[in-house]
Amino acid sequence: MRIETRTIVVGSALVAAGLGLAFTAAGGGYTKEGLMAGARITARWSFLWFMAAWTASALAGLWPGGWRTVLLRRRRAVGIAFAADHFVHLGFVLAWASHEQINLVKIGLLDGWICYLLIGAMAVTSHNAAQRWMGMARWRWLQRIGGWLALYVFFHLYSGRLADQPATAGPAVALIVAAVALRAAAWLKSRRSQAQAA
Ligand code: HEM
Repeated sequence: MRIETRTIVVGSALVAAGLGLAFTAAGGGYTKEGLMAGARITARWSFLWFMAAWTASALAGLWPGGWRTVLLRRRRAVGIAFAADHFVHLGFVLAWASHEQINLVKIGLLDGWICYLLIGAMAVTSHNAAQRWMGMARWRWLQRIGGWLALYVFFHLYSGRLADQPATAGPAVALIVAAVALRAAAWLKSRRSQAQAA
């Protein structure tokens, strides 16, 4: 049975919103702490989807078959779900900023805002017509730059929290390092098989 892309994306975003609301309520409701807890859990949820999308090709390249091939086949849906979840994160961030009367343009990191622009562009061009319209080379560059920038922002945020939040930041940083190692191993494997075929 093939699950519709829309079902995966909407389902993941609804879980993100539900988690965000539950953690906001548990953290004190519509307060600074509550809304920050909502922002944190939605970032964590979207991080898992991002990691799945970003490593799908490497996992299937290194160990073809099984769930890795299914993940690769559904990578587009997983990537759009990450984008939808990350816009739910933005919703909690905006609620927190409005509660605290914070000017987001001033406190938001430039790389964070550029990342949002690219995540939005990647999500709206995640279909065959956009690939034809942009050309495959340009489309691949957008995916590549957007993916690496999101990875960088996650790494930057989590590595900065290693001292304060080792229980969550530690596994997140380890996952990022493992993902980069996986992609490097998959790239080497494909280079080796190309060289053998030539
Ligand atoms: C510039 C736009 C953004 C703003 C204003 C923003 C704001 C926030 C806020 C207020 C929190 C929760 C408070 C805290 O724990 O310090 C948070 C957490 C977080 N955000 Fe964002 N964010 C932005 C963009 C992004 C982007 C683009 C990413 C990743 C690609 C991201 C990933 C995270 C992560 C990983 C956390 C921490 C989650 C955890 O503690 O496990 N954010 N962000």
